Amino acid sequence: MTVELDARAKEILRGNDRGGYTVPTHGLYPYQWNWDSVFSAWGFSTFDLPRAWVEIETLFASQKADGMVPHIIFHQVDPGYFPGPDVWQGGGEPPTSGISQPPVAAILARLMWEGDRDAGRAAITALYPKMVAWHRWWMEHRVVDGVAVVTHPWESGRDNCPDWDHGMAGVDGSNVGEYHRRDTGHVDADMRPKKIDYDRYLAIVYAGRSMGWDQARVLAEGPFLMTDPAVHFILLRAMDDLAAIGRDLGQDVAEVEGWAETLRAAVPDMWNPDLGAYDAYDLKSGQWANNLGTGAWLSYLAGVENAAMDARLTKAWDKVRYGIPSADPEGATFNPKRYWRGPSWAVMNALIALGFQRMGHEAWDARLRRETADMIRIGGFAEYHDPLDGSPCGGANFSWTAAIWLTWAGRD
Ligand code: SER
Repeated sequence: MTVELDARAKEILRGNDRGGYTVPTHGLYPYQWNWDSVFSAWGFSTFDLPRAWVEIETLFASQKADGMVPHIIFHQVDPGYFPGPDVWQGGGEPPTSGISQPPVAAILARLMWEGDRDAGRAAITALYPKMVAWHRWWMEHRVVDGVAVVTHPWESGRDNCPDWDHGMAGVDGSNVGEYHRRDTGHVDADMRPKKIDYDRYLAIVYAGRSMGWDQARVLAEGPFLMTDPAVHFILLRAMDDLAAIGRDLGQDVAEVEGWAETLRAAVPDMWNPDLGAYDAYDLKSGQWANNLGTGAWLSYLAGVENAAMDARLTKAWDKVRYGIPSADPEGATFNPKRYWRGPSWAVMNALIALGFQRMGHEAWDARLRRETADMIRIGGFAEYHDPLDGSPCGGANFSWTAAIWLTWAGRD
């Protein structure tokens, strides 16, 4: 079974390889997505290390002059996805979107590099200054008072999780006109965000586009601005990993360490005392999200833990069977099948597990790995899974789920 799943996972990555970059899945997502691509690279690294490094090189080839690495790179126009490059108008050749996505590159590049330093030396040496420039972009354009923020739910990668409900309520989506969604032509509409969400997603894109994607203006004047504990903890961990890579390469890492310090010092500011956990905060309306979500779970990744939160989190975990639910199972809006509003994501489970490993939570790591592997055995290489019964949700033959099987969940 494991051997068969290994072979199938490799076949999925090979099948989604479009030559230098990997699509998340055929049909639903026909372009290169930032964090998907980095997870694909990690998957490739288990059986084709040169191809793995190429994936990250292709991603960073679309880095903007200001350091941003865009969330989508539209290598070849595909009418099967909306909104495409004509809507985004993010510039570049190939064209891109105008926002970024969670900065996992340094975290996984470090693992790839430490797995085989000789094979990775040239790639990591070329990549290092680009990753520094991207992290600088985050610090300059997406950190407010020391806390990481997102300017669009898509920038968080966790599109419609309940974290964003307050911020989204403040976005006027009434003027976006008629448009034709393509995602619901590929997967069941009940597993995707609702129309009201899409109207608002588009309104935020139109606002950024009207500012010519001037990122200082997007931050100051955009219609959506929320702190994101998940991106914060990912960025903090990525800073630590980038500094480690830089030290290995004999670089002066004082600036990177300084950024890590800034982010670490602001961690207490993300604590919502009423929730008893790290939480997202809407900078427009001044309200906590009050959602026990994956942001809190990612604290371990950054070497942060809090005994009061542990009990709260494990209670939520115990309510489901297959991995970490993307929203609180006891929350009013929990939905085990709708995109980020409850399902378990192999990719988030793997990131959270890296945190458990860092903090020495071996039993939790083993449990999460077992549950994620079982979920993939039941539901296959789906985009995400129902955490109650493991059934497949969203797109099928998904690159990042295949990658997580090969790198962690299915490993002996
Ligand atoms: N995940 C988004 C989508 O569903 C875009 O990043 O299209």
